[in-house]
Amino acid sequence: MEINVPTPLGDAVAAVWRARALDDRGLQEPGAQDGFRRALAADLGRAYTDWTDAVRAALAAPPHAVVVRDRGPGRAAALLAALAVALGEMMNPYRDLVPGSPVLQEIVPKGPSSPDRVWLWHTDSANWPEPNDLSALACLRAAPVGGATQVLSLATLRAHPAWRADLLAPLWEAEVEWPVDSFLGGGTFRARAITADRLRFRRELLAGRGSGAFQRAVDGFAAASDAAAPDVSALLRPGDVLVFDNRRAMHRAGPVRDPQRRRRLLRTKIRQRPGRWRHL
Ligand SMILES: [Fe+2]
Repeated sequence: MEINVPTPLGDAVAAVWRARALDDRGLQEPGAQDGFRRALAADLGRAYTDWTDAVRAALAAPPHAVVVRDRGPGRAAALLAALAVALGEMMNPYRDLVPGSPVLQEIVPKGPSSPDRVWLWHTDSANWPEPNDLSALACLRAAPVGGATQVLSLATLRAHPAWRADLLAPLWEAEVEWPVDSFLGGGTFRARAITADRLRFRRELLAGRGSGAFQRAVDGFAAASDAAAPDVSALLRPGDVLVFDNRRAMHRAGPVRDPQRRRRLLRTKIRQRPGRWRHL
């Protein structure tokens, strides 16, 4: 699913962003995200509601991912934040632990240990007790070749011939101990990988955990994911934003050739606020 940003809308969002002198640090001030959303609603009116409603509607249906295309110059951060504050709240669970940690995080080409680097399907923040609901990526600078972000929904995976409910049942029947991200203080918590509300998956975090049957289920789930074709392969150009539902879909980095490490993405993680979406 793709949605274009009409030029007047993109210009108006960028104007509100500039007028409020917002940046990553500013968005972390108490009330700043609500203030930005209200200012956008006041200045843009129906155009902002219609745009964000369209994104929200696209996210609600499989594959729960939408690409927002913009051709305007240098306003990716403004558009990313304008979408994020309409969809929920930009999360920063590190705030108390790592002062200055961002809500708009610049993603640079990664080392070999990252799941994105080695092209493994995963959900974001799987090792946070409360992961983000949505993830959003804006492209600041593209790689010379490739660099798509791929998305695969749980709905698609369940319909694939490689999905074997008998083998995979431990993923929704058994709680397993997850190691908490060291940023969040370490320790462990217990959760099922698949519940009615959320998929939580990152294979290397689950290695050696749970019963033998659980380990076979993890391997089977990874094998089925690798066998399935991605729902979306989003090749972002500068200004484009990809949003996906981190509860209902996994993602991975597709093949990329970027020897100069040029690619720059801006990521935000969003917690939804049921009942607080309508701003007009
Ligand atoms: Fe990721």
